Amino acid sequence: MKYMTGNEIRKAYLQFFKSKEHLILHSFPLIPENDPSLLLIGAGMAPLKPYFTGKLVPPSYRVTTSQKCIRTDDIDNVGRTARHHTFFEMLGNFSFGNYFKKEAISWAWEFLTQVLELDTDKLYVTIYPDDKEAYDYWHNMIGLADERIFKFDDNFWEIGEGPCGPDSEIFYDLGPERGCGKPTCTVGCDCDRYLEIWNLVFTQYNRTKDGKYEPLAKKNIDTGCGLERLASVIQQKESNFETDLIFPIIEKVIAISGGDYNDPRQKMAMKVIADHIRAITFMISDGILPSNEGRGYVLRRILRRAVRFGRLLGIKDLFLAGLVDTVLDILGDEYPETREHEALIKQIINTEEKQFSATLAQGMELLNDMMAHVGDDKVLTGAEVFKLYDTYGFPMELTEEIAGEQGFKVDKDGFQEA
Ligand code: SER
Repeated sequence: MKYMTGNEIRKAYLQFFKSKEHLILHSFPLIPENDPSLLLIGAGMAPLKPYFTGKLVPPSYRVTTSQKCIRTDDIDNVGRTARHHTFFEMLGNFSFGNYFKKEAISWAWEFLTQVLELDTDKLYVTIYPDDKEAYDYWHNMIGLADERIFKFDDNFWEIGEGPCGPDSEIFYDLGPERGCGKPTCTVGCDCDRYLEIWNLVFTQYNRTKDGKYEPLAKKNIDTGCGLERLASVIQQKESNFETDLIFPIIEKVIAISGGDYNDPRQKMAMKVIADHIRAITFMISDGILPSNEGRGYVLRRILRRAVRFGRLLGIKDLFLAGLVDTVLDILGDEYPETREHEALIKQIINTEEKQFSATLAQGMELLNDMMAHVGDDKVLTGAEVFKLYDTYGFPMELTEEIAGEQGFKVDKDGFQEA
């Protein structure tokens, strides 16, 4: 395995698939176009749905992208694990009724083992139990031993109605020192040892409204490979956060806060901030502004969470906008739209950080008081949580997280009612 920077890995991926006759497309914006079912783009395939369904004719039947993605369903895990993010880049190669399993599998293997030079002994795959075709390609064409091919029922990728199908995931063994040590530890274990690095989806069905799976006339390929994960493997880092795609931001946070990355609580706060400033920068550059609903609320929630973790690190002044330069140093060449909106991004961040900072300390005092006087059930009432939201600008989820850190819960239904 040779060392490559994150930017080099992205480029190598796109160029590799270009050499396999794929058209390189620039990342689609984070705001979905003509897709009311999605708030934000969270996967490489999401903006390509009309090409999969045949609604639109693609500019090429083979496409490759590095797609900007936002996922916030697991936001509470960000900073606590090695690989949860709100913003990440998903590398993907896509076939719209063109090639299928054979090429997808052989090219994924070729890229991992010949371009990135990953050690084949560390690679494992999973497939859908019924997928004999995928098994044959992995076993007979690639030559992967049977014990390296795992069959799991949940190897099926779908989002609601529409194109879907069985998938095959590729895992990298980070070694026993990263594992849980249990004798049962193997691919599929919850621990960090086996890292999923690539998901190959064989989009061969259309899921109808009433839950039927109809075979598609034209079968598609949708693959997703997380750039930050791949970088953590190639750069041999403990987590995605130590890769050159993110760590310079953490170094800047250390410089501003004078904090200690070896202290677990501070480390978590620094990871949260580094993750969130990437999301904030990209969301604003794609035209999202903080607000109390929809995408704007997602942005506000991320931004305020980052501010709170900055204060936990002891940073008293406005600091978030000061991190944008580092994000642009790393990603600005690949995503020029971020540089184009640099001034706006900084201005929006400063305004929002200033506003929230003005009420954060008072809100925290009130929240601490509420927690001190809570009933035996340790649940903060909807009215209390609403007061924090309405008067002090605490997104409900932020209150929930802070309260949760101390063993308290919030009445979410009551909050909605209030
Ligand atoms: N759609 C699949 C995923 O998001 C593969 O790209 O994992």
